[in-house]
Amino acid sequence: MKSKDQKKKTGERPLKTLDRVLSKAGLGSRTQARSWIGSGRVKVNGRVIQNPDHWVDLERDYVYLDDRPVRRQKKIYLLLYKPKGYLTTFKDPEGRPTVYDLIRDVDQWVFPVGRLDLNTSGLLILTNDTQLAEYLTNPEHNVPKTYLVKSATRLNDEQLDQLRRGVNLSDGPTRPAIVTRLRDSANKTFFEITITEGRNRQVRRMVEAVGSTVSKLVRTSIGNLRIGDLQIGSYRVLTRQEVAALRAGQFTNLTTNLFTNRLTTKN
Ligand code: URA
Repeated sequence: MKSKDQKKKTGERPLKTLDRVLSKAGLGSRTQARSWIGSGRVKVNGRVIQNPDHWVDLERDYVYLDDRPVRRQKKIYLLLYKPKGYLTTFKDPEGRPTVYDLIRDVDQWVFPVGRLDLNTSGLLILTNDTQLAEYLTNPEHNVPKTYLVKSATRLNDEQLDQLRRGVNLSDGPTRPAIVTRLRDSANKTFFEITITEGRNRQVRRMVEAVGSTVSKLVRTSIGNLRIGDLQIGSYRVLTRQEVAALRAGQFTNLTTNLFTNRLTTKN
């Protein structure tokens, strides 16, 4: 059987499943698309199709959502400074604010690349480019993500070294990280950590694994992107150069350093 992601070719014309056509057009997620299809809102060549796995010939078939033609949308890339207290999901059953409340004036559908916890603030990329999102979130590509951390207790050098070397979490050991102590107060440590994975609550769990907890967490960078002087709660569109650099993986040097110099960036 063909995988859904596979571009099927018959007579060398590309075919895609109906749910993919809708999500690739930037109208919504695959889950949303499947629900629209299931509820009879989607027509192909004038006929309602309720099977999301229906094959569509991109060159010949006409697809409509609510009787409006579906066209491929331009790619869009946003950099948002997510505040604490906002979810990265589309809708919250409890009615809490989500990052979509901060991009109300964006008329294209975008989704967050990876997640930030409710209580984590900082840099979040939102896009409709599924390929780039897959690239950036795949741990095999070693995309560096940097966080500013305030720990709830003062961390000693050995604790920071453990974070650098990697700690054991319930889902396996973490990779080496770059850790730089920024300053200490009487009973807190402020440090920066760069990791190349993006597991659920990873930084918080790493800090817990060395015997403390996180009291503040801000993501300041992803790949070559920095939060810069973006105001909290606001977003900007990425430049072509920034998108090209992300696509080209132009953070490889930083990542290489991560593995070769990991124990030299002390305190
Ligand atoms: N690590 C965490 O613990 N939380 C985040 O939101 C991101 C990284």
